[in-house]
Amino acid sequence: MSGEGQSARHVAIIMDGNGRWAKRKHLPRAMGHRKGVEAVRELVRSLQDTSLECLTLYAFSSENWKRPEDEVDDLMNLMRKFIKSDLPEFIANDVKLHIIGDWQGLAPDIVAMLENALEQTAKGSRTLAVALNYGSQAEIVHAAQLAAADGEITEDSLAAHLYTAALPPLDLLIRTSGEVRLSNFLLWQAAYAEMIFTDVLWPDFTPRHLFDALDQFAGRERRFGGR
Ligand code: IPE
Ligand code: IPE
Ligand code: MG
Repeated sequence: MSGEGQSARHVAIIMDGNGRWAKRKHLPRAMGHRKGVEAVRELVRSLQDTSLECLTLYAFSSENWKRPEDEVDDLMNLMRKFIKSDLPEFIANDVKLHIIGDWQGLAPDIVAMLENALEQTAKGSRTLAVALNYGSQAEIVHAAQLAAADGEITEDSLAAHLYTAALPPLDLLIRTSGEVRLSNFLLWQAAYAEMIFTDVLWPDFTPRHLFDALDQFAGRERRFGGR
């Protein structure tokens, strides 16, 4: 990591390209997702070597239900396995899990596993926020409704009802796989985030790529509209 420049507190990643990774290797799509989970595991392990207080990962969008049923099943099963296998490591490494999105809408057994994981990691100092059944437009509508019920809708009152209210401001958004779009992710939160789009497919993304992105961020000039 560079010793110069600003340090990012909160990075979010749109983990894209599992399907194309598998296709290139003539493997089933499910293998791409499986390798994608391994990339997540390595990245979470590397958090302690960074300045980050929070890493937010887009794992399943509210639009991903449109995929064929067997792929959705594969993804849900991987989620079950991942929570089970990696929860002890999260606890040991002081990682605090946070979920953004309409995660209560997932299968009841997954909801129960997540509730348990949230409880068991509550004292962690570095946050891993996972976006599950997440859609940013729905998040904003929901936050606006809650803010209106409380009183006036202002930027602050709305932001206080977003799933990310407890997280540090978003500094950097990374998307892998060469696609250059936000796909309904953190639309409000990204207002002044720096962005990095890389051609690396998600299963090939390593901690080294994250460290390089943090170095790039350190050299960026942020103006927030000033000069
Ligand atoms: C990202 O990889 C994982 C999820 C969206 C769950 P994709 O499955 O979107 O991979 P591509 O974009 O088809 O290569
Ligand atoms: C965004 O990727 C969602 C996740 C990474 C979980 P998609 O692959 O679903 O996005 P589009 O469809 O290419 O925009
Ligand atoms: Mg994709």
